[in-house]
Amino acid sequence: MDKVHVIDHPLLKHKLTLLRSKFTDVHSFRELMQEISLFLAYEATRTLPVEETYCETPLTKTTGYLISSHLISIVPILRAGLGMVEGLLKFMPMAKVGHIGLYRDHETLQPVQYYNKLPQNIKQMEVFVLDPMLATGGSVAAAISMIKEAGAKKIRFLCIVSCPEGIKALCEAHPDVEIFTCVIDSHLNKEGYILPGLGDAGDRLYGTK
Ligand code: PRP
Ligand code: URA
Repeated sequence: MDKVHVIDHPLLKHKLTLLRSKFTDVHSFRELMQEISLFLAYEATRTLPVEETYCETPLTKTTGYLISSHLISIVPILRAGLGMVEGLLKFMPMAKVGHIGLYRDHETLQPVQYYNKLPQNIKQMEVFVLDPMLATGGSVAAAISMIKEAGAKKIRFLCIVSCPEGIKALCEAHPDVEIFTCVIDSHLNKEGYILPGLGDAGDRLYGTK
């Protein structure tokens, strides 16, 4: 569990409550997901390496520190992960964005892959995988396997709502990956939905149900 970081902050608790509410409309849901992703990005980038640089202020010269954001890759898992991308790009505008398309088969709950486009030199990059929901863990475990097959070694996973089942499965499949989550909910129901959760993140983000 030392790889699991639960972000605890009153502002985040407030926004997460609004995100969960079934009375939140699609427009507000999108805005909230972006705002929450900023908090996650702030925590998940805490250990990024910085490069020393020369800096002139209006008064004097000093040493500055810059993040090599061209060596950062953000990989949302489609669809719902897309809702988190802008939040991360606010902090790291030069980051490259890869995409992995997966959906859960409703019967088996197994991930089905339909898209994979990752940055060419992902091997050297710090990778931030995004998906708001960590349920059984099948989708993100499969996505991370694909990212590792492309050669990436430094991978962090950012989600908004997780549950014990998903955390356990992901830690077992990829013990090297750091997990950042806003909350660990109670459990999965028999249809594989997180309780209390927020429902189907993709449908709420895009208004498809
Ligand atoms: C949701 C969610 C995750 C996945 C989590 O996507 O965004 O990708 O389920 O479930 P798991 O941990 O049990 O794999 P979904 O399959 O509904 O696809 P969508 O984003 O296209 O709606
Ligand atoms: N996917 C979602 O969007 N929500 C859940 O609760 C579980 C999987």
